[in-house]
Parts: sequence; C-alpha cells; structure tokens
Amino acid sequence: MATSDTPRSAHARPTAGHEHSSAAQPSQQSGHSDNHAAYVALVHALLEHDRRYYVDNNPSITDHEYDVLRKRLDRIEAEHPDWVVPYSPSKRVGHVPLSAFPKVERSVPMLSLDNTYSAEELAEFDERVRRGLRSAGDPVPPAYILEPKIDGIGIELTYRDGVFILGTTRGDGLVGEDVTNNLRTIKSLPLSLRSPVGLTVRGEVYMQRDDFAQLNDARLKRGEEPFKNPRNAAGGALKQLDPRLVAERPLRVLLYELVDESGAGEHGHATHAAILDHLRALGLPVSRDIQRVDSLDALLTAVSAWQARRNSVPFDIDGLVIKVDRLAQRASLGMTARAPRWAIAYKFPAQQAITRLREIELNVGRTGTITPVAILDPVELAGTTVSRASLHNWDQVARLDLQVGDDVLVEKAGEIIPQIITVLRERRHGRERVLQPIVPPTTCPVCGDTLMRRADEVALRCPGTRPCPAQLREALAFFCNRAAMNIEGFGDKIVADLVARGLVKDVADLFSLTREQILALPRMGEKSADNLLAALTKSRKEATLSRFLTGLGMPLIGEVWAQKIADRYQSLDRLLQHSPEEVFAALAAIHGFGEERAGAVRDYLALGSTRALLNKFLTAGLSPREPERTLTSSTLLGKTLCITGTLSQPRGEIQRRIEAAGGKVTGSVSRKTSYLVIGSEPGEDKRKAAEKNSVPILDEEGLNRVLRGQ
Ligand code: IVH
Repeated sequence: MATSDTPRSAHARPTAGHEHSSAAQPSQQSGHSDNHAAYVALVHALLEHDRRYYVDNNPSITDHEYDVLRKRLDRIEAEHPDWVVPYSPSKRVGHVPLSAFPKVERSVPMLSLDNTYSAEELAEFDERVRRGLRSAGDPVPPAYILEPKIDGIGIELTYRDGVFILGTTRGDGLVGEDVTNNLRTIKSLPLSLRSPVGLTVRGEVYMQRDDFAQLNDARLKRGEEPFKNPRNAAGGALKQLDPRLVAERPLRVLLYELVDESGAGEHGHATHAAILDHLRALGLPVSRDIQRVDSLDALLTAVSAWQARRNSVPFDIDGLVIKVDRLAQRASLGMTARAPRWAIAYKFPAQQAITRLREIELNVGRTGTITPVAILDPVELAGTTVSRASLHNWDQVARLDLQVGDDVLVEKAGEIIPQIITVLRERRHGRERVLQPIVPPTTCPVCGDTLMRRADEVALRCPGTRPCPAQLREALAFFCNRAAMNIEGFGDKIVADLVARGLVKDVADLFSLTREQILALPRMGEKSADNLLAALTKSRKEATLSRFLTGLGMPLIGEVWAQKIADRYQSLDRLLQHSPEEVFAALAAIHGFGEERAGAVRDYLALGSTRALLNKFLTAGLSPREPERTLTSSTLLGKTLCITGTLSQPRGEIQRRIEAAGGKVTGSVSRKTSYLVIGSEPGEDKRKAAEKNSVPILDEEGLNRVLRGQ
C-alpha cells in the first residue's frame, strides 16, 4: 500500500460494484437528467473506483475526476433520498452510535491455531500431517501455503447478493459481536463484491506501522495517551460504539479464509491457493505475500527467509501461518476441539528483552520540547543492540512509575525505535536503595531558561527566549537536511561549531556567513570552507519555495503540505504580500489541507519574529521560488511505481514529481505495478518481484525520460 500523504486518502471511498464494474462513467451519459438507473450505475462506478484505489492500488481516474463523480452522487442523493442504496459510498460513516454490540452466533466456530517456535516443531507438524493423510489412505504428499500471521484482530464478514451485510469479531469463537457499522468505515473493505454472490470470509483488521506512528503522534500532541502497539489501536477502534470515531483510525483489512459461499458450504475449489485467487477476483483484499511449498525442506527455507524480512511488510506480523493447500486433505485431517490439524502458526522470536535503565538523557528538540530518553544497558533485540529507548514525555515516565536503576521490558516493533513497555517492579525488592526517582527538569539543560508547559500540551518546553543554542542547532540541521534545503556540508558538527562561536543566531544568518568566519572554525581547511560557501551560493540560487517552507519546520507542515503552499504562492515574496488571514482562507480551501493545518500556518506567519526572519532571508539574497510545474501533466496518469535503492534526490522529491505527473508510488511490487525504479543498493526482493511479474525496471534516467513523456 502506498504511504503517500495525499489528500486523496481523505475522502470516504467505499468499495463495491457487481457485474457493472467496467468503471465507465455512466454519470456522463446521464448528464443532469437524473434517473434511477443512472444513479445506481453511478454508485457502482464509484465503488469500482474505490476498489481500484484502496484494494488494487491502481486507480484509473484522477482525484479530481473522482471528486466530480462523488459530488454528483451527493447531489442526486440529496434530491432523491428515496433512491439511496445501503451500499452507497455515502453510507460508510452514516450510522448512529450504538449502546452495545449485538451478539451473533455462528455455525462454523472461529478456531485458534497451535503455535510452533522452531524448525523441529515444524518438522513434527509436517510428520503429523503426513501420518494423518496416510492413515486416511491419501497417498498425495501435502503442499503448504505460507501466509504472514497478521498481528491484528480476527473478523468474519458476510456478503449476501454481493453486498456486505454483517461483520463480527471472534468473541469466544462461537458467539461473536456484530461490529458491521464499524467495519463499514474501513476503506479497503469492499461494501459490495464484483459479482452478486453470497459468502462468508475471515480475515484480520490491522493497522500499518506508519499509520500507527502518525496516529500516536497526533494523540501525543493532543495530550492523549499513546497506544501500546498497532494491534491494541485496531482492537480498541473496533470496540468503539460510535462509527465516526472508528473512521478516524487508519484501519485496514486482509482476508485469508473462505468459510462458505452461496450458503451451500460448497464452492468448488480444490485448493486454498485457488480460493485466495477467487477472493481477490471478487475484489476482496488478500495478502500478496503468499507462498506455496511442497516439501518440508522448502517450508523451512521459506520460513527462515521470512524471519529475516519480517519487517519488509508494512504491518506487524508475529509469525507465519502454514496451511495444507488441498481442501480434500484438510477435510480428512479434521480438527481438535481448539484448532485445525491442517494448519499451524510459526511464531517469530520475541522482539522483547529485559534490561536496566542507567540514566535519563534530556533531549531538546527543534521547537524546544524537552523529551526524556532512556539510556539502557546494551541488550540484543531482534538482531540489533539496543542502548536507548524513547520515552514520549514526562507523563509517560510517571505512568510507568519508572526509576533510574529499574529493570524494564523493552520492545521493538518494526522500524519504530525501541519502547519501554513496562517496569519489572517485582525486581525492585532488596534494591530499593539504589533506585532514583526521575524528576522532570524545571530548566533547560542547555540554556538554563525556565521551562513551561502550554495549557493544551503535555510537553515541557524551553521558551528559547535566551535564545537556546540546542534549539538553534536542531533548527539549522533540519533546515539544511536532504529532505529540506539540502545544503551540502552543513552536518551536525559544523552546525554545532557555528552556533558555539555565535556566528549564526538564527537560520537566516547562514546566508550572511563570510569566508573568514568559516575559515576561523576549528579544523577548517580552505577547500572545505569554499565547498560550504559554494553550497550556500547554490542554495541561494536554486532554493525552491517548497523546500524552503519544509526547512522552516512550521508546526504540522511537512514536505507534502509545504508543496501545496508553494503551488499556491509560487514565491516567498508573493506569500509575504498576503496577510496571515488571507493565507489561512486560501489554504483551508485546498482539498485535504484542513483548517487546523491552515490555522497553524496563519499563527506562524502572524508572529513578529517569523516576519522578521523571512525578511532577513530576502535581504540576504535568498528568495525561494517554485519552478513552473505542469500540474496537469499526465505522463504517468493511472500508473503505479515502486522505488527501491538510493536515487540522486530524496525519496519525497521523486515521489512528488511522480505524483505531479499523475502517477502513484507504492511500497511493494505486484503485477499491477507499472514500473520499478531502481537506484543504488536496491532491495533484492523488489527486483525479484519485478522480474517475476514482468514489471519493467527503470533507472533514474529512464524515470526522467518517462516523466518527460519520451
Ligand atoms: S487462519 C482455523 N491465517 O491468528 C484457521 N489466521 O492465532 C485460523 N491470523 O485467530 C485462522 N493471520 O485471527 C489464519 N493468515 C492467517 C492469519 C490468521 C493472522 C490470526 C487469526 C487467528 C489467530 C490464531
């Protein structure tokens, strides 16, 4: 799935579509003379576009074209409320809060799986399967399907005549809870299928790691407690009684078992692999990371390969599920009271470890936030040595009841920095005297200023009135970094020296540095000084407004939104010609920008210190402007690209160029991918997937050619 932060992900986009799913544009034929058939066709066209966007990751129309169709739908539904169908795209979040979830009894219980933890245990499983098949008189050796074991919440979905009518949680296996309206809000869950069949499927609701990190950041900013892991966040969401709150959580769904089809319990498929293909063809989201193996050796090789790349999927997996492929063999193996005999879970080694908290380091961020960082006794955790863990804020320290000297449980989930999960309080006995309580600081460890806490925030902040060298160092490093102004040579060391010598008192001062000043820095040679000056000159000449705005690090404005502001104003001069209120109105009107973000820009621009800083840049000869972008260029319209390896520009920049040409960037390669773009040190998995699926491979030059339409 793409991780791009495009406003498109902001609209409510359900899925469904029956046989009429050519996703033509029926509404165009209908014009404004609405009739019921044209309305239904429009619903189906929109549902098919949703499926292409959220499930196939391969849209065939632009966001703008989608919005036009969606607005037409809203208008027709407002004029003809009696026409509205329950699976209309407008109905994803249209349900009133419940006071409790009704219980639903199911005829086929949701079982759990037995776990294995080693190659020996897997060999025992394989032996049990073979023995079982032999005693049932089946001479065919088993083949297995390997699937990621998604660390989410198990669910069951029922479709009747192709329409989603019921969704339940596992509950105790036999009796689940009806969470249909909550599940309806999940955009990758099709509200209707590509053909009008009746079926019951099972799968998992989960959250991607990047979505989870964003959700937690937002919660922390609002002073709310962060979720412990994506699984808890997903589980908590499904238990919300108000579907509107569920819709705010970035949930996704993947399906992995067919329970029955058309109510008959018979679906005519011989293998699990065929079923998964069938579910995919109906428009249901099914993992693409599925492998078939036909021997124990192949199984063990595949399992250990998976272990090494468990973080290559964008969501947490706690292991693999290994299933007998042939359904006839499954039937003869049967099940125990708890779990099927034809499947087993293989659990990866824990990503948790116990270690001791040595001290708390104070980190002063770019905006003055003082966060505690735990310094730990080094410990091996999922293949790396961990000696630091992030603590979100001082409230978390208090909540954990953390003391220096405590033994703590640390956990690493994917690429996220290790977290302290809990304090092992029982290990304190007899050691009480060596423990030291952690007291939040009252002054900045760098500039000594008195810290403050804003009413709406949990964070402790250094007001930076002195001003604070730590904040300035962070701000400079942020401004110069690759994703922002990309000013070469201004690494942490140089930046620290410039600040320590008092040569730079704000970010704009960079552009007034003289050769003599730079040469006076410790261990600075003539050549290096000239390189630094050349980098500044280049930046003065070439700075784009989008990179400049990114570098300022305004609250809530990362690369994507900086680009939107730059597209609107083109140059810093023009931006400054407008009042903060005018800027607010203009930005809030941009699709997906939102009032909160526009308000943050307004507040930032309204500060006297901001205006002074921005004018100082102009005076120092830096007047960033945005190059003409052919925003309507469509050389990549409807195309999906995946990037691997390092290219000459930051990923964000390449992605921006691809999106400006109508393309979409995804994180993985499938047969739907139009091109794989390869830089230096590419990921082998992606290259192999491209070869397997006959996806054309482009180097950077090739990409540039395609972008130019050549
Ligand atoms: S198959 C009887 N496949 O793991 C078959 N389950 O520990 C059981 N899970 O309850 C389900 N990924 O919630 C299956 N690819 C996958 C899975 C999976 C995650 C969950 C599921 C199940 C639990 C068992």
